[in-house]
Amino acid sequence: MSAPKKLFIKTYGCQMNVYDSERMAEALGAKGYVPTDTADDADMILLNTCHIREKAAEKVYSELGRFKGLKAEKPDLKIGVAGCVAQAEGQEIMRRQPLVDLVVGPQSYHRLPAMDDAVRSGEKALDTDFPEDDKFDTLRSRAKAKRGPTAFLTVQEGCDKFCAFCVVPYTRGAEVSRPADRIFREAQELVDQGVREITLLGQNVNAYHGHPQGLAGLIWALDKIDGLARIRFTTSHPNDMDEALIAAHGTCDKLMPYLHLPVQSGSDRILKAMNRKHTAENYLRLIERIRAARPDILLSGDFIVGFPGETDQDFEDTMQLVRDVHYGQAYSFKYSTRPGTPAAEKPQLPEDVMNERLQRLQALLREQQQATQASMVGREVKVLFEKAGREVGQMIGKSEYLHAVYAKAPAEVLGQVRRVKIIEDSPNSLAGALVD
Ligand code: SAH
Ligand code: SF4
Ligand code: F3S
Repeated sequence: MSAPKKLFIKTYGCQMNVYDSERMAEALGAKGYVPTDTADDADMILLNTCHIREKAAEKVYSELGRFKGLKAEKPDLKIGVAGCVAQAEGQEIMRRQPLVDLVVGPQSYHRLPAMDDAVRSGEKALDTDFPEDDKFDTLRSRAKAKRGPTAFLTVQEGCDKFCAFCVVPYTRGAEVSRPADRIFREAQELVDQGVREITLLGQNVNAYHGHPQGLAGLIWALDKIDGLARIRFTTSHPNDMDEALIAAHGTCDKLMPYLHLPVQSGSDRILKAMNRKHTAENYLRLIERIRAARPDILLSGDFIVGFPGETDQDFEDTMQLVRDVHYGQAYSFKYSTRPGTPAAEKPQLPEDVMNERLQRLQALLREQQQATQASMVGREVKVLFEKAGREVGQMIGKSEYLHAVYAKAPAEVLGQVRRVKIIEDSPNSLAGALVD
């Protein structure tokens, strides 16, 4: 038997790409590929890319350039580009970088085995269709004997919201939900392989409609799986937070008290220009309802500063919204012009104005994040232990609130949810002691 071919996948962007990379590795597993964690000994390199901001897309081309030497040494090496840059730029990638053999979009990667045949016979392969056949029907079941305690599971893809700044509706296509029974089966398989926590993924996950009762219905269905201890979901849009989902945060024990609910801006003028279809007030009232259902919920958000037309006052409105909400976690970005989106046509703000605003916003968000983390000291949390720490006898896991927690513990705690008393707060983690 010939030696197995080695596959190196580098993943950029969001969690959905992390999930897709795993599924691509599984699809190519059928062709005899085994994963490797270095590009140097690979027979195929796949970059699973992100197009959300300009820097993310440019990174791909500089990374590809670095493979020139490798390809010269090893003519059989095949190089592929997958993900959102593949979808957005297609053929253009091969023109700009002739090293590339294969380009595959996020909706067509179930066709990778056939594309591998093509590139092995010396052809170039390109597939950026939004095919009729559902990739999830064609993909093999999750062939892995044993897994770590946490896993992602994509339940919904695409977005119909068309925020004026965003490429996702173009790179991922229209909103599609997977049927609840298939998700249930995949979740059951993951749990059989040792998974204790599943994060349900979607570009707009709370718009999920593959279950008659929406995402809340799916969560309650998964709640019945024995051995599944925790359910999370991301990312949500404020306008799709329905009553049942809000209520589930108060009544479903397996649903963790953490919610990523991006608002982007605190200015109604900018929210309107962004086509977000909600006001700052709508968002604040929604947060009140969520906190009424689950008072200790940790809220996370995304913000864009410097959207075209953003005035000093608009930015101050964003700062005020952040003060009103108090986030436990947040991500903030300078607006980045994306070709083909409506906002790209508008005059851009000067770079120094954006930089200054981003710094102020990040300082405020950091303060809130640190205060939230510090408030955990002295409290008892539940930690799902995931791996050994750097120090001997130390284990690391995540609390309900997604804080990283270290504790001295025996190896048997791996994969278990254990009570931990938090003792100390350090910049990116908490230290605690096992309670029982
Ligand atoms: N579907 C999710 C996340 C989309 S992308 C949602 O609706 O929230 C993740 C984040 O990237 C967005 O929330 C937004 O804050 C940021 N983002 C998207 N497009 C951007 C752009 N053109 N410039 C800067 N940030 C952007
Ligand atoms: Fe992009 Fe808006 Fe859709 Fe989120 S809701 S993916 S920001 S268009
Ligand atoms: Fe990036 Fe595509 Fe995700 S653009 S953020 S990888 S959906």
